[in-house]
Amino acid sequence: MSFSAQWLELRERYDTPARNPGVLDAVAAAFAGKPAISVTDLACGTGSTRRAIAARLPVRQDWRLVDNDLSLLARARPSTLPAGVTITTVPVDLARDLEAALDGSVDLVTASALLDLVSV
Ligand SMILES: C[S@@+](CC[C@H](N)C(=O)[O-])C[C@H]1O[C@@H](n2cnc3c(N)ncnc32)[C@H](O)[C@@H]1O
Repeated sequence: MSFSAQWLELRERYDTPARNPGVLDAVAAAFAGKPAISVTDLACGTGSTRRAIAARLPVRQDWRLVDNDLSLLARARPSTLPAGVTITTVPVDLARDLEAALDGSVDLVTASALLDLVSV
């Protein structure tokens, strides 16, 4: 199943305000006061989850953005990033190699519109 960048852009306008504030608050509280965080976003698309929660996380952020669609991954990495933020894009087919996606230490794993929308 493939998802176009245009479709994801249309969704993001509605998804962002519809994200559960209780979950966002819990994530923010869990990492409040920590100097840094590493996040793996499974099936990142163009990076909407990072855009939705980055401002609520510690300033130093290392993101691993995972998807099997190379064109979406290319869009998920902005040309400029705030100081202290790194993004690594990781092309992985989650149906075949979930372990590769979760390689290394990670503080937070996110997966937005994956389990409910993607069948493998
Ligand atoms: C509905 S989109 C959600 C994108 C993003 N998380 C969001 O909320 O906007 C589903 C994403 O899952 C990715 N995807 C689907 N099957 C996958 C697979 N087998 N391995 C990795 N990514 C996959 C698609 O490329 C797409 O980016």
